[in-house]
Amino acid sequence: MANVAVIGAQWGDEGKGKVVDWLASRADVVVRFQGGHNAGHTLVVGSQTYKLSLLPSGLVRGKLGVIGNGVVIDPEALLAEIARVSAQGLKVTPETLRIADNAPLILPLHSALDRAREGARGENKIGTTGRGIGPAYEDKIARRAIRVADLAEPETLADKLDELLLHHNTLLRGLGAETFEKQALLDHLLALAPRILPFAEPVWERLDELRRVGKRILFEGAQAVMLDIDHGTYPFVTSSNTVAATAASGTGVGPGTVGFVLGIAKAYTTRVGSGPFPTELHDATGKLLGERGHEFGTVTGRPRRCGWFDAALVRQAVKVGGVQGLALTKLDVLDGLPELRIGVGYQIGGEVLRRLPASPRAQAVAVPVYETMEGWSSSTRGARSWADLPAQAVKYVRRIEELVEAPVTLLSTSPERDDTILVRDPFEG
Ligand code: GDP
Ligand code: IMO
Ligand code: MG
Repeated sequence: MANVAVIGAQWGDEGKGKVVDWLASRADVVVRFQGGHNAGHTLVVGSQTYKLSLLPSGLVRGKLGVIGNGVVIDPEALLAEIARVSAQGLKVTPETLRIADNAPLILPLHSALDRAREGARGENKIGTTGRGIGPAYEDKIARRAIRVADLAEPETLADKLDELLLHHNTLLRGLGAETFEKQALLDHLLALAPRILPFAEPVWERLDELRRVGKRILFEGAQAVMLDIDHGTYPFVTSSNTVAATAASGTGVGPGTVGFVLGIAKAYTTRVGSGPFPTELHDATGKLLGERGHEFGTVTGRPRRCGWFDAALVRQAVKVGGVQGLALTKLDVLDGLPELRIGVGYQIGGEVLRRLPASPRAQAVAVPVYETMEGWSSSTRGARSWADLPAQAVKYVRRIEELVEAPVTLLSTSPERDDTILVRDPFEG
């Protein structure tokens, strides 16, 4: 019996939340392993829509949720999200949610620095979510982060704040932004401590116990391979590793526990924020995809950039992310388009490449090489079996499988939980 890791195979917003919610019925625990509240996962269950950022999507199914050490946790954002979903009828208590005691915290100074730096970058901005993700990971690597367990030790907090403020206030002052005061931050953290600490524990130990008694673990990725700090379109990326290997280091289990790697890809491509996007469409078709797909950022509300499916990009994500099966989502958004294009490589200078090179200059000038396919006129929306799909849609899916070198194991045909076609159960390995 395998565990499953779900990761994004493009630039995020592929529908990971929907797929994780659907798969959670087959799992015992759902675990977040990287990222933070930069993620926005939308789940539609009947008349209810849930928007989750930090909480594992399995909570909607009443499954145990775990936030691993690889996640950066904004305690205020976490409590606000718990309050928000509780108002929708979900139960989030220390019985249903555990958070790693060794996870680093996001503090108000991190988002202040994130925004100040983006402002200073002007035209060259990354287009971050402004939630302090990058600065929080920087502090983790620099060994000055405040972690969940520190909330239980006022003296540790005071000492750490001295070091943090020396660093951050110097930067903030240099950027012309407002600085932070130690006592105010200390009071803030001490007030949050009793509300956060009941959720905290060494989650690696719980995951080890669950694994040993044969419970199924579903690892929920945020962002996507092309936003990975190493493998993505650097520097237009997020500040964590988003590939499935991180599910191990980001929770405290061995790589063998991660199990089947399910990559999620949209039947077209979107991106929110700056950076290269070779198959982007600036025409009426791009606009149509955005409108039909409701492509607006869950976190920031920004319109997402839209374009054709880029098979070269997803193939690269399949390889570096270790993707064994693909969940293809939003096929319904392509219904009725007379002709579809699939990017199969890039023309860069005089060369044609089947991968995106590491150089940002080369990425910026990459011109996609397309293959053209006939579209389909009937609807795929809400289809729940292969038999319900028009022949041409099946052909499109089959061509994608060939080009990305991974089988499609799941298909999603609407935002609704049950509008899903299972080809092969990822938990069966
Ligand atoms: P995530 O960040 O990967 O979890 O994706 P988001 O939730 O940010 O964005 C995906 C959006 O597409 C959400 O609004 C989903 O409700 C919606 N969605 C997911 N699957 C499908 C699908 O198959 N068809 C359509 N039309 N919408 C979908
Ligand atoms: P989900 O989990 C799409 C993008 C931001 C920006 C870059 C860096 O919903 O797929 P950050 O705030 O992380 O430092 O921003 O990464 N980004 C996402 N784009 N979906 C996400 O999450 C994203 N999380 C971050 O737009 O370009
Ligand atoms: Mg999202």
